[in-house]
Amino acid sequence: MNKSTAIIASLVALNLCPMQIQAKDIEVNTPNTTLLLKAEEGTELHISYYGSRINSVDEVYDAYSLWEQAYPAFGAGCTEITCLSVQHSDGNMSTELKVTGWEESQEANAVVYTIHTKDAFYDFNVDIIYKAYQNCDVIETWSIIRNNEKKPITMLQYASGFMPIRQGECWVSHEHGAWAAEAQITEQPLTEGVFEIHDLSGNRNAMTSRPNIMISLDGKPQENQGRVMGAVLCWPGNFRMTIDTQGKSIHRFVAGINEANSQYTLQKGESFTTPSLAFAYSNEGMGGVSRNLHRWARKNGKVHNGEALRKTLLNSWEGVYLNVSQDACEKMMDGLKEIGGELFVLDDGWFGNKYQRSVDNCALGDWVTDTRKLPNGITALEKSAASRGLKFGIWIEPEMVNTKSELYESHPDWIVCHPNRQPLMGRGGTQLMLDMANPKVQDFVFGVVDNLMKETPNIYYMKWDCNCELHNYGSYYLSGDKQSHLYVDFQLGLLKTLERIRAKYPDLVIQCCASGGGRVNYGLMPYFDEVWVSDDTDAQQRLFIQWGTSMYFPACIMAQHVSASPNHQTGRQIPLKFRFDVAMTGRLGIEMKPSDFTPQEMQFAKNAMQTYKDIIRPIVQQGDQWRLISPYEGKGFCSEMYLNEGRTEGVFFVYKFEQYIDMFRPRFYFAGLDANAQYRLTEINREQRRGGDHWEGKTISGKFLMENGIEIALNGLFDSKVIHIEKQ
Ligand code: DGJ
Repeated sequence: MNKSTAIIASLVALNLCPMQIQAKDIEVNTPNTTLLLKAEEGTELHISYYGSRINSVDEVYDAYSLWEQAYPAFGAGCTEITCLSVQHSDGNMSTELKVTGWEESQEANAVVYTIHTKDAFYDFNVDIIYKAYQNCDVIETWSIIRNNEKKPITMLQYASGFMPIRQGECWVSHEHGAWAAEAQITEQPLTEGVFEIHDLSGNRNAMTSRPNIMISLDGKPQENQGRVMGAVLCWPGNFRMTIDTQGKSIHRFVAGINEANSQYTLQKGESFTTPSLAFAYSNEGMGGVSRNLHRWARKNGKVHNGEALRKTLLNSWEGVYLNVSQDACEKMMDGLKEIGGELFVLDDGWFGNKYQRSVDNCALGDWVTDTRKLPNGITALEKSAASRGLKFGIWIEPEMVNTKSELYESHPDWIVCHPNRQPLMGRGGTQLMLDMANPKVQDFVFGVVDNLMKETPNIYYMKWDCNCELHNYGSYYLSGDKQSHLYVDFQLGLLKTLERIRAKYPDLVIQCCASGGGRVNYGLMPYFDEVWVSDDTDAQQRLFIQWGTSMYFPACIMAQHVSASPNHQTGRQIPLKFRFDVAMTGRLGIEMKPSDFTPQEMQFAKNAMQTYKDIIRPIVQQGDQWRLISPYEGKGFCSEMYLNEGRTEGVFFVYKFEQYIDMFRPRFYFAGLDANAQYRLTEINREQRRGGDHWEGKTISGKFLMENGIEIALNGLFDSKVIHIEKQ
């Protein structure tokens, strides 16, 4: 072995392959999918194929050839939609990125391909990265943009990635929504012109349109069949996802940070890493894409502590709202203990010194216990919980301030707003955002968590809320020439702060809440254990919201609480069993005073909690989900099921949420089972008065359950059943 081959051999052994500039085709493989790139030195990087895993590169080229730039830049030779647009240091608006080499490296569950490109003329470099996971069919892409020119450059567009899609019977599905009605699914065919979803809220990119999308290649998207590509952008700020369809051959998909009012300068030597854009592809419909994204999230740190079981809890908000007191909390703890819950969470209303948080127009920023309400402080409440065998959690909204607060009085220049403008106020007519671009604010926000943890080290859980959007564009902190960095630097400051919090408190369970589901995005989830799915706790509406959320997010992060009837948001009356059955497909919780339960309801709640902890929780939180009959189909029924990883045990949920005479009753099909195996079906979480169905306690083959399904007796409005599936 000569010297250079020896060096190469040792680098390969370290999984650090040297430049392979002659190699043209890069097969970015996951277990069942391939993204094929063409990286020829001196030309632009191209995408040749994305779909099911290929046997050889030749079969792609023999069958057809897609020839699209992988990361199109604006300028010479580019008349299509782009990912990147840069004004170079001399004013030139065009960029030509040519491949200079590429390398491959191995990570725990993934292979990473970094393709180096450089402008043909300028010292301007872009690395285009693809990370292929080996434990799910997900490929992430992002870029690192470097200014090596002599002077600053300005990025006018800096998207994360691009994907060409051959035209055919393509449909797009995404979620849109509003407060208390998040994650509503909408589907439409892709036709000529531009399809776009975006967010301009500045800090809550999941309240309306979310940065997630599915594109079906086989017509109207199906749950468990057909070829579907999904994409999610891991960014908590303004985003833009565009599908441009000009002519009859290709749909061009671009996604990334929304560049609107966000031009970003890079000084000489500076670089910018775009957020990751994750693609999943499946032949098993939207469900296949979802299951891959769920696994990717749980098993690769895309949600914090993704493989841990989440505790059941009671959150105080709908029980007492701001009327917090030691006595009221302890009564709720007593009830929770009786039900068998594990964690008590004290929501809004516990803090404020000069200003008392008894109305929602003051005290945000003043994170000290209001001793008029809680004379013995938070530590005493934590002890009360501990004495009942419960963990303790607390609510914060650390990025916010009220003008009626001691914080605002001492730091009026910490808010997000231009110094020359009068700020528009949010909640209570007094709420403003703190400027996370400012390092002093970052320290303050870190301190909110740190001080609470120092004062009461046994805090197990925090609910991190965010009830205001970025209404007032401008920063006291950023210099005049960097005002346009605010949308991005706010997020980078937030992420840096969360990074610091996680470094010090890796085991603290933190919920991501933003007036409900306003911040359900993969930009934040690496730091958060769960999300408050919606402020709407009405079980009927939750079926739709939870269904939409589950398209992209795993059940373990979905906080789902049983609340009072009539429901506080909609006024609807729904039986307790139905409310429990709906809440059990995620992280189960209670959002009411247990003292409002009748003795019979209390008994039911105790049994339900036990069933959830013993049987349902591990399967739902750590298994795979199959959505079956969608509530959006308009049948008045919906059903879904979960199987554990070994496919030996599962739970099937069915809900009936409409009632009219001569109503069609579907037959209920199962999915994901071993066709050759036998399964015992047993109804669980049942009410005393109910009798069994024909299949109760019987053993039926997987083939029959999937191909012929079963009849399930469901009568009247808001009837539901949970069936335990056990492989024999
Ligand atoms: C909005 C959240 O979504 C609610 O659950 C509750 O925490 C309130 N904020 C408290 O102000």
